[in-house]
Amino acid sequence: MKIEKVGVVGCGLMGSGIAEVAAKAGFDVVVREVSEEFIEAGRKRIEKSLARAVDKGKLEPKDRNDTLARLDFSIDLAGLAECDLVIEAIVESMEAKNELFSTLDGLCGSETIFASNTSSLTITDMAAATKRPDRVVGLHFFNPVPVMKLVEVVRTIATSDDAFDAAFSFAKDLGKQPIAAKDNSGFVVNLLLVPYMLDAIRHLERGVASVEDIDRAMTLGLGYPMGPFTLCDFVGIDTLYRISEIMFDEYREERYAPPPLLKRIVSMGRYGKKAGKGFYDWSGERPKPLAL
Ligand code: 3HC
Repeated sequence: MKIEKVGVVGCGLMGSGIAEVAAKAGFDVVVREVSEEFIEAGRKRIEKSLARAVDKGKLEPKDRNDTLARLDFSIDLAGLAECDLVIEAIVESMEAKNELFSTLDGLCGSETIFASNTSSLTITDMAAATKRPDRVVGLHFFNPVPVMKLVEVVRTIATSDDAFDAAFSFAKDLGKQPIAAKDNSGFVVNLLLVPYMLDAIRHLERGVASVEDIDRAMTLGLGYPMGPFTLCDFVGIDTLYRISEIMFDEYREERYAPPPLLKRIVSMGRYGKKAGKGFYDWSGERPKPLAL
């Protein structure tokens, strides 16, 4: 199967990145959001990211214009009817994802592949609720999508070879380096990353070292691009909390349990960089660690 037209549902941080890389790679992309306000925010994010690439001489202005012309924004789901592949990047809720795929089931052709960018829910539970379990896959991207090379391509026990191969080739066509992953909550990266970030918070609770020093230790000692607390703020503290709850629910292992401090920070609305505050205060020129 050849994918030509792609739908992206949800134009937040991840959805806008996915839409951007797909349009940049030459695909016609239908982007769907729930309101004009969200569409504008998503469009601005994509324009800013493309402008940055042009400023750095990595993208010709003509290619930027062509990329933008390939993006079709809509608040209507109907535009997705013609898509060969629809990728959802909406809220991390099984109920919301099942509702979306159920609507798309009646709208899209029987061959259309449904993909989820979920970080921790299982693809099987989404596939089982559709009329096309053989054509449901996971396509898990990483933030910032235009920069991070990896895509986890996830198959369930019901995914057909045809759908999996088409999704895998699509990821390659985006210039990404896909890996094949089985459908377990967290796939490969979050299975290892989430306990690491939660451990960092637990060690902070125990007073092992300060936020800044733990971050410094992991960047300077291991060459990680970001320390765990900067990464928590970057990923979103609310997102990490939600992922850890889903993974704990799935595995019932302590390593996935959200530490109390994580819950406290979420309760205070300190969702990380996007909120201006998380483990750090992001309002100044340099992030400043906050009292916890
Ligand atoms: N959009 C587009 N390009 C971006 C960008 C963005 N949001 N952020 C950075 N870039 C580009 C820059 O333009 C720059 O390009 P250049 O090298 O060609 O000039 C390059 O990325 C490096 O950026 P900077 O020099 O500004 O900054 P850094 O060197 O500090 O790199 C980073 C920024 C790439 C974000 C780096 O810090 C990094 O790799 N951090 C780790 C990110 C990570 O771990 N992501 C995965 C999170 S987990 C996840 O997403 C899964 C989910 O399910 C939780």
